[in-house]
Amino acid sequence: MSTQFAARIAAAALLLAPVACLAADPAQVERGRYLAIVGDCAACHTAPGGAPFAGGLPIQTPFGTLITPNITPDMKTGIGGMSDAQFLGDLHTGVEPDGHFYPAFPYPYFTKVTDADVLAIHAWLNTLPPASNEIKTNQLPFPFNIRASMGVWNALNFTEGRFVPVAGKSEAWNRGAYLVEGLAHCGACHTAKNILGGDERGSLLQGGVLNQWFAPNLTGDTHTGLGGWSVAQITLYLQSGHNEFSAATGPMAEVVTHSTSQMTDADRQAIAIYLKDQPGQPIFERPAVDAAVMQLGAIVYDQQCAACHTGKGAGVDGLAPAFAHTPSIQAPNPINLVRAVLFGAASVATDTAPTGAAMPAFGWKLSDQQIAAVLSYIRTSWGNSATSLDAAKVHQLRESLTA
Ligand code: HEC
Ligand code: HEC
Ligand code: HEC
Repeated sequence: MSTQFAARIAAAALLLAPVACLAADPAQVERGRYLAIVGDCAACHTAPGGAPFAGGLPIQTPFGTLITPNITPDMKTGIGGMSDAQFLGDLHTGVEPDGHFYPAFPYPYFTKVTDADVLAIHAWLNTLPPASNEIKTNQLPFPFNIRASMGVWNALNFTEGRFVPVAGKSEAWNRGAYLVEGLAHCGACHTAKNILGGDERGSLLQGGVLNQWFAPNLTGDTHTGLGGWSVAQITLYLQSGHNEFSAATGPMAEVVTHSTSQMTDADRQAIAIYLKDQPGQPIFERPAVDAAVMQLGAIVYDQQCAACHTGKGAGVDGLAPAFAHTPSIQAPNPINLVRAVLFGAASVATDTAPTGAAMPAFGWKLSDQQIAAVLSYIRTSWGNSATSLDAAKVHQLRESLTA
């Protein structure tokens, strides 16, 4: 973890460094540097302990493990010899001269990015120090190691094409749509996937399961989505990793640190405006939770949780997030909640919120039954509506999750 962190810091330093004026157009290069932050290219192309953007990070896919390629301008092992036309082709179509890419490379999103923006990123990458790092990306088992099989994947899951602004929506809305659906690839985590790993149509941004985490619903749904968050509250979360409802502690902490905290305020607001306008799912009533479970949950809550989260689940700004009207608390998939109670949580520190608050671990102290009861209680009190949890589910997660 610490070497990976060091490598990410090194990548971040490059992203922050004043750009050397090697290329013809310094303004274009500078724009490319910013866009590489928005696209979080470093997240996948910098390996633990490795040179920035020199690849080598293993990525789990439904088909097996891929290793990310070196995208520094090294002539032999990187993309130093790559033409603008080929770079455009890679990001827009997922096809290169020797075959198809796998969609762990988010080209299904990058296809929406304008030519000018893609070329600016290429121009900036070309100013990086070349790093020699030979990568054999494809380590998948037969038959998935055959890149041609991705032609079938594309036919089923991929539509090539640049973003088309929606008439009648504001400029900010369209900028947000362009970023979320394109370069910032928020749906790569926040949209449910079909069995082939493609985005499930009709479930756009309604929440997706990652390895051991749940990326919550980002639509305007008032229970499980961002319907109850103002544009300012969403913007604050993207900037600092915190607001009164939620704190980024898992994969989103990385996204905040390396991408959204470094975006312009205008871009963060545009994202928020677009997200709030995404249709939510109709609210439906869940069956009431068993009275005995609610009673046990209330006891555990008052004794263990209320000191920080307050008696009515309102939270304390800067100390502990609110539970009432909080989408992540009502998420259909409760994995992040069980994780927080079992292991505790330390949230991301950003310039805006330099010391994140921390949640203590309760896994050693509370039984599966107590955890199930207290979470069922907070998921259905104070106006919240969600399914309850049973002790067996908590037990299964206690066995399978790693801190
Ligand atoms: C979620 C992980 C992820 C992110 C984010 C990501 N990439 Fe990649 N990228 C990959 C993977 C995996 C491959 C290799 C796919 C394969 O081998 O089929 C790849 C391949 C590439 C290639 C092809 C390299 C070659 O040798 O042909 C280029 C170019 C590239 N990425 C550029 C970028 C840029 C620019 C960004 C940021 C805007 C970016 N990537 C963001 C995972 C990612
Ligand atoms: C690498 C996967 C990944 C990507 C990419 C990603 N997210 Fe997240 N996001 C998560 C996960 C997982 C969580 C749950 C909390 C955590 O990780 O700490 C989350 C939480 C959030 C939350 C808090 C929701 C809540 O109810 O508490 C917001 C808002 C959010 N993400 C917005 C975005 C936006 C906007 C983008 C694109 C710019 C984005 N995310 C990209 C994985 C991701
Ligand atoms: C000492 C103060 C404190 C106590 C006591 C405490 N929490 Fe927390 N809790 C926090 C903080 C702070 C966070 C935010 C974590 C972060 O910033 O990383 C949090 C986060 C959480 C989350 C994650 C929220 C989300 O949006 O994903 C859950 C769930 C949670 N607490 C449940 C509980 C339960 C249940 C109890 C009692 C068993 C409890 N907490 C007791 C401080 C506390």
